[in-house]
Amino acid sequence: MDAILAALEQSALAAHLRSARWEYASVNAAHILGIALLVGCTLPLDLKLLGLWPSVDRKMLSRVLVPVAAFGLLLAVITGMMLFSVRAQEYATLSVLRLKLSIIAFGFIMVIATHLRYGIWLDREPNVSLAHVGAMSLLAWISTLFCGRLIAFVV
Ligand code: HEM
Repeated sequence: MDAILAALEQSALAAHLRSARWEYASVNAAHILGIALLVGCTLPLDLKLLGLWPSVDRKMLSRVLVPVAAFGLLLAVITGMMLFSVRAQEYATLSVLRLKLSIIAFGFIMVIATHLRYGIWLDREPNVSLAHVGAMSLLAWISTLFCGRLIAFVV
């Protein structure tokens, strides 16, 4: 594991990001854009699953929010790995980052399981209450955001 982390840190991309201020800032900004899209889209969807806006159609809402949230997660993961590579060995020792990655893994598995079970637009069993999914998703992504922001306070 140590060898993998060291190789990651010594990669050309990590070395470039360490020395290029604007490129690092751009990757950081793209990470925040990914987070904004992910949390900004999952939050209203989770609140809908928890029972808000009963007159709004769940499928229509999902059609708009699910693809944008998925893109946000992809962007956050790609840019997150780039940021991680810059100081891989140090970041790997941080409990808060490990917790963050565990919650992301949990959230990702939950999202995949939910969409496999209830359809990509959550319309396969329209009468089923998905409040538990909404609550867990809300908790997972807000906790991830919180852990991400905490990293800056412990390095
Ligand atoms: C594989 C996925 C991810 C990895 C490896 C990763 C890694 C990182 C790293 C290394 C930083 C820089 C920490 C620093 O030195 O200040 C960071 C910042 C941050 N991450 Fe992630 N991240 C990932 C996904 C996410 C996701 C999905 C979210 C939110 C839902 C998130 C939220 C944040 C936040 C809020 C910050 C602080 C940004 C700032 O204040 O500049 N991350 N992440």
